[in-house]
Amino acid sequence: MFQGFSALFACRAAAGLARGFDGTGFYLVDSFAGFPKPREEDFIPMSSGTNIRNAPAFNEGDAAVSLEQVSAAFRDFPGVRFERGFIPDVLSRLPETNWAFVHIDVDLHEPTLACLEYFYPRLTSGGVIICDDYGSRLFPGARKAWEAYCDANGIAFVTLESGQSILVK
Ligand SMILES: C[S@@+](CC[C@H](N)C(=O)[O-])C[C@H]1O[C@@H](n2cnc3c(N)ncnc32)[C@H](O)[C@@H]1O
Repeated sequence: MFQGFSALFACRAAAGLARGFDGTGFYLVDSFAGFPKPREEDFIPMSSGTNIRNAPAFNEGDAAVSLEQVSAAFRDFPGVRFERGFIPDVLSRLPETNWAFVHIDVDLHEPTLACLEYFYPRLTSGGVIICDDYGSRLFPGARKAWEAYCDANGIAFVTLESGQSILVK
């Protein structure tokens, strides 16, 4: 979520395609408390002077933003619903339904994998999942999670030069 830019972009794109789209059926999920504690899968080599050690690019709590600040940007889309909480636990608060479009941008290994495990089985035929962080050098855990899930489930995907990975069910 952070400041909601990509979600607002998606809502505006949807409104351009479907006149009268007010955000109904669009869910924004985030801790609004920033990152959980990064795990080893998320570490990258960091140098200080001549020392190189593995560490996360960001720390627990980084990227925190208030729900009020983000939701204010969605005034044109009153049907949008916000779910505040850490993935995976917060996912159980979503309605049990099928999803047509899922944009994953949680940077880290554990929540990326949890999103795939939750959403892929619930994805409509022809539905799309995008992972924003597949090509990110700062967040290697997202790619590891994506590749592990796709390999284990025989799922083909494409990648973009801008770094995202995309699958269509
Ligand atoms: C790069 S930001 C998303 C930026 C957003 N797409 C935008 O356009 O502003 C990553 C977000 O993932 C959230 N996040 C990371 N791990 C999470 C987890 N386990 N549960 C919930 N949110 C998480 C952070 O709080 C942060 O808001």
